[in-house]
Amino acid sequence: MSLILALETSCDDTCAAVVGGDGELRSNVISSQGVHDAYGGVVPEIASRHHLELVNAVVDDALRRADATLDEIGLVAVTQGPGLVGALLVGVATAKGLAAARGLPLAAVDHLQGHVAASFLRGVGSHPPAEPIMEPPFVCLIASGGHTLLAHVERHDGFDVLGRTLDDAAGEAFDKGARLLGLPFPGGPALERLARDGDPAAFAFPVARGLAGLDLSFAGVKTSLLYRVRELGEDATRARAADLAASYQRAIVEALAARCEQALEQTGLARLAIGGGVAANGPLRERLGALGVTVGIPPRELCTDNAAMIASAARYVPAQPFPDYLALDAYASGERALA
Ligand code: KG4
Ligand code: ZN
Repeated sequence: MSLILALETSCDDTCAAVVGGDGELRSNVISSQGVHDAYGGVVPEIASRHHLELVNAVVDDALRRADATLDEIGLVAVTQGPGLVGALLVGVATAKGLAAARGLPLAAVDHLQGHVAASFLRGVGSHPPAEPIMEPPFVCLIASGGHTLLAHVERHDGFDVLGRTLDDAAGEAFDKGARLLGLPFPGGPALERLARDGDPAAFAFPVARGLAGLDLSFAGVKTSLLYRVRELGEDATRARAADLAASYQRAIVEALAARCEQALEQTGLARLAIGGGVAANGPLRERLGALGVTVGIPPRELCTDNAAMIASAARYVPAQPFPDYLALDAYASGERALA
């Protein structure tokens, strides 16, 4: 069976992966651009330039690690959006070039559909080699830096949205909270590390309630941390930083877990998967793992942005034959996969 070569360059990670036509993970290369840390956030223009510098080496590495050559690739896949448009264009142009040079078809994949499709991969970590992490139907929590939503996944090629954040994404809440505590960017992993030494019950941060349906909100918890930090002042904040981090993290995790439980109840399903950068969070993984339902938790490197998930989604996207895709454009926002 021929292989799928995928590229993902929607934000600051330059990613390429090779996946079998049956969804088997063959390689997954992620080159993170540490350059943005100094700015406290991703600088779009710098991200695009770095993608340009890194992308060819990352593709070569993905092929080498899969022990494959371009001759064995039958389909090229790429993230078309949403994301930083300049960054996306580097991936789209590279994918077009690779595919067109060999007359191969190209699959344009939606980034969020990619996060869902990470669960369709086989041959991953401790999961049985021939089994995907999770197959539809299931509820999927996607929580990243740009998106937080609960998806009802009944098929491989799309999903329905059960609820979404009305303001900040969960990853954004982690990043902004981390910044208030003086932690480096990206804030999620740094805040999780600091929280290990803290007491999650030390401070009571509000978990948003009273929202319609399964929607979420993280603006309140962020503001509440801001007020607490101001009240405490610089020295006391530094002294209580681990407690603040642990309590803040618990509020976010509890808000997400409560919505997952409600989504499972509403759909009558007992199968939950997670995706997106925040799904790398240890306490969230533990909390959801203890819900008493079947939980599909991809390894961390398949939760944060990666190209293996894009290859996985590409199996269910109608591929465009050469040369139809030559005019393909990236899109910065929107959720095309939700059609
Ligand atoms: O999916 P992702 O890699 O990129 C986007 O599509 O946004 O998600 C990145 C987000 C960032 O906000 C980052 O702080 C958060 O995921 N994140 C975490 C952890 N690792 C990454 N949040 C909490 N705990 C983590 N361990
Ligand atoms: Zn993402």
